[in-house]
Amino acid sequence: ALAVRCDVTDPDDLERLAAVTADRFGSVRLLVNNAGVDSTGRLWELSPERFERVLGVNVTGVFHGIRAFVPRMLADGGPAHIVNTASIGAVTTVPTQAAYCASKHAALAMTECLAIELAAEQAPITVAALLPGPVHTAIYESAASDGSAGAATRDRMEAFLRENGVTPEQAANTMFEGLAAGQFWIYTHPERADDLLRLRADRLTGHLTPTAP
Ligand SMILES: NC(=O)c1ccc[n+]([C@@H]2O[C@H](COP(=O)([O-])OP(=O)(O)OC[C@H]3O[C@@H](n4cnc5c(N)ncnc54)[C@H](O)[C@@H]3O)[C@@H](O)[C@H]2O)c1
Repeated sequence: ALAVRCDVTDPDDLERLAAVTADRFGSVRLLVNNAGVDSTGRLWELSPERFERVLGVNVTGVFHGIRAFVPRMLADGGPAHIVNTASIGAVTTVPTQAAYCASKHAALAMTECLAIELAAEQAPITVAALLPGPVHTAIYESAASDGSAGAATRDRMEAFLRENGVTPEQAANTMFEGLAAGQFWIYTHPERADDLLRLRADRLTGHLTPTAP
């Protein structure tokens, strides 16, 4: 293992990470763009800085990771996997979590584009989107919030993950099983995901007005 301090919002940090990884380990066989943050609150109450931070880490951070590592992986020419961590929030829309949902929808769209682009290059690199449901991690302990609605959501989500989340180890195992099975879509909670996907498909194809999931 090699620990490297890295802020994913800084392209130079990712470039340095990719360079020291290549120096130390040679080829990269698995790239997981996993860093992510949430900041809760009604859209009109969110501070611009917090909105930008969520987009900066969850969207631009993934872009920086792809940009630093993929050219090296292509030049290496060996088989490899890329996993971008989106969220079940990438296929639904939740009040007071608009910044997070917007960022995860964007991360998922970017991941789909990457898969298509690499397939067009006939690169031996598979791409997967990890869409976790609740996982008991520290994400809401470090989440910011704006306004009373934002604070309530952050506290509710923290308790929800503590009481209902799978462990990070379970989520990681699900990721590896999905990769081994060659899946693009990897869900920790497939039944809940199917419900939300059906709701979304119905809304889009039926031109329905958004409602809370
Ligand atoms: N926990 C859940 O229920 C859940 C559900 C769906 C998706 N996710 C996603 O899973 C991923 C991991 O989150 P987690 O739940 O383990 O939360 P976490 O807070 O425990 O871990 C997130 C990690 O990202 C790192 N990070 C934050 N900003 C960074 C930056 N600018 N540069 C580098 N690293 C940074 C943090 O230091 C932390 O180690 C995130 O993308 C999150 O959106 C989590």
